[in-house]
Amino acid sequence: MVSHIPLSAGENLRDEVRRRYARSARSVTELTPDSSRCCTTPDPATADAYDAIELGSLPQTAVLASLGCGNPTALAELNPGETVLDLGSGGGIDVLLSAKRVGPSGFAYGLDMTDEMLDLAERNRAESGIENVQFLRGHIEEIPLPCGSVDVVISNCVINLSTDKDQVLREAWRVLAPGGRFAVSDIIVDGRLPESIQSNLAAWSCCVAGALTEESYREKLHDAGFSDIDIEITHTYDPKSLFTESADCCGGPSMNDADYEALKGRIYAAFIRARRPS
Ligand SMILES: C[S@@+](CC[C@H](N)C(=O)[O-])C[C@H]1O[C@@H](n2cnc3c(N)ncnc32)[C@H](O)[C@@H]1O
Repeated sequence: MVSHIPLSAGENLRDEVRRRYARSARSVTELTPDSSRCCTTPDPATADAYDAIELGSLPQTAVLASLGCGNPTALAELNPGETVLDLGSGGGIDVLLSAKRVGPSGFAYGLDMTDEMLDLAERNRAESGIENVQFLRGHIEEIPLPCGSVDVVISNCVINLSTDKDQVLREAWRVLAPGGRFAVSDIIVDGRLPESIQSNLAAWSCCVAGALTEESYREKLHDAGFSDIDIEITHTYDPKSLFTESADCCGGPSMNDADYEALKGRIYAAFIRARRPS
């Protein structure tokens, strides 16, 4: 059954998002050789975003827990010695890859609100033996780091899940040092989504109902104080890969034919770059 929500119900949405990703983390930690994966990367395009050799250097559970829609670590052009923050770090894949890229003189923080994801990420960190990493518990709307303390903010398929995206972008700007980079993979939609999708709790938690249009993303980044804003579409999703395939095991939304027709060709993965002016 589809559960509908008033979209003003921010706490309901946050709880639903937390429950969905707690389930996803458990489906990875409880994985046995015979069990099938659930609530993991919905589309092969996501897996292809990473370099196989780079992935081979990480624990398998970090790779299996990957739920992103791109690879911000590759596109952010990280340099040795830099400090990176990943908003909504999940099982830690992008934090661990960032830590390797910035090297021992740099540092990578991951921030997430879901305890099960934080536990999984810390387990993956310990298994990989990477030391220049810390996972923080908290909300991307209230980042628990001082002003100007990071060089690069990355994020992979998370900002669309927030009910207060203006606040997330203001916080990203605040923690960046002057001249710092914002390099994020996220879902973008073309135009207004049908009411039936917008008010569908599961469609929000699977990264569709809360997604911004390109125009709105640009406007919000600009209003938060960012410059050099660039949005590049990297992939068009088949709505079925985001909806129906996740419906059975992780409570994703199911979709009727009318919704499918309305969404076809209108859900994208994008790479979003911006800069806090110097
Ligand atoms: C789609 S998953 C992406 C995880 C990771 N970035 C990746 O690429 O695998 C979304 C993650 O963001 C976290 N999250 C969602 N909303 C959040 C918020 N408002 N504050 C902190 N974490 C949040 C969830 O707990 C979950 O781990």
